[in-house]
Amino acid sequence: MRRLKKILKWTGIALLLLVATIVLVVLCRQNLHYSAPYPDITASTDSTVIERGKHLVFGPAHCINCHNNSNPDSLIEKGLPVSLSGGFAFRLPVGTIYSRNITPDKETGIGNFTDSQIARALRYGVHPDGTAVYDFMPFHNMSDEDLRAVISYLRSQKPVSNPVPSHELNTMGHLVKAFLIKPVGPEGTPPASVKEDSTAAYGKYLALSVAECSSCHTKRDLSGAYLGEPFAGGNEIEGYMTPNLTPDSSGRIARWTQQDFIARFRKGRLVPGSPMPWNAFGRMSDTELKAIYNYLRTVKPAKTPTLH
Ligand code: HEC
Ligand code: HEC
Repeated sequence: MRRLKKILKWTGIALLLLVATIVLVVLCRQNLHYSAPYPDITASTDSTVIERGKHLVFGPAHCINCHNNSNPDSLIEKGLPVSLSGGFAFRLPVGTIYSRNITPDKETGIGNFTDSQIARALRYGVHPDGTAVYDFMPFHNMSDEDLRAVISYLRSQKPVSNPVPSHELNTMGHLVKAFLIKPVGPEGTPPASVKEDSTAAYGKYLALSVAECSSCHTKRDLSGAYLGEPFAGGNEIEGYMTPNLTPDSSGRIARWTQQDFIARFRKGRLVPGSPMPWNAFGRMSDTELKAIYNYLRTVKPAKTPTLH
């Protein structure tokens, strides 16, 4: 009996020590610092460059959808001012993540960041303070020219003071942050510039590195890793199932002409509450939509995956 008690006592102490060590390791790994190159990108005050940036921010790159905490689409429709002042809360199983204020405000925005610090955050996923950026944004392979246009537009905005709360992670969130979150960077060397035309090549660039059609329209697991064939759909987001965009006969757009595709984007959101940023994508030009359509015609035909 005494022996059993002793064994239990020491097992208890060992377990306690183990838990304490894990807690300590997790805490120490909460603010790991990473190094990554600073892209040689400087903002321009040229109005054509700023216009291009604005088009990307409100259109294909849809920054406005995540970096605004009101209903940006309804404000834009009413002609009311809308800013990239952040604070939008993403409520996830790991906790609540807030988008940042990316107006030039010095205290609460990006006013004190250099152009290359902003470019590094977007391209290499490393914040100016060296910590990893949660991978919400797909711009790692955005061209130098477009990154410069976007940052030039960011610099041209009116500063808006809006203190955004710090992220609130739960226990699972802290564990995920300690062991799984790392900066995500580009594949290969991002292009200096990309020709804007209606070819599949430009469509591929828009679909993968700017508008991120792939990440919603491909089946993924909880950690975000891809499970299914690219663009074959079957991915559930906030209770909405994404359709298959490949040319397979089971695909939603298999029989759509280029004109049908453009017309669909001009209609905007038809399924109420759909998480797809229809309004921002509806601001894309005919040329951009043609390019995406042409690219989707070249992806491997794949059957829609069955549920779970
Ligand atoms: C799908 C949602 C989403 C889209 C689209 C998006 N962002 Fe973000 N962005 C976020 C979130 C969430 C964070 C916070 C990440 C973190 O703190 O690690 C963030 C962080 C940032 C940061 C880092 C700020 C800092 O304080 O370090 C910058 C810069 C940024 N975004 C710029 C942009 C620009 C420019 C665009 C469009 C070209 C854009 N974002 C589009 C969600 C988004
Ligand atoms: C944030 C996730 C998300 C992103 C990003 C996204 N989609 Fe979707 N998409 C959805 C969801 C969910 C649906 C189903 C609900 C609906 O029709 O709105 C959908 C539906 C569609 C449809 C079918 C519409 C219909 O009426 O049948 C097409 C076409 C489409 N998406 C194309 C695209 C393209 C092209 C892109 C990139 C430019 C894209 N999507 C980016 C989530 C997304």
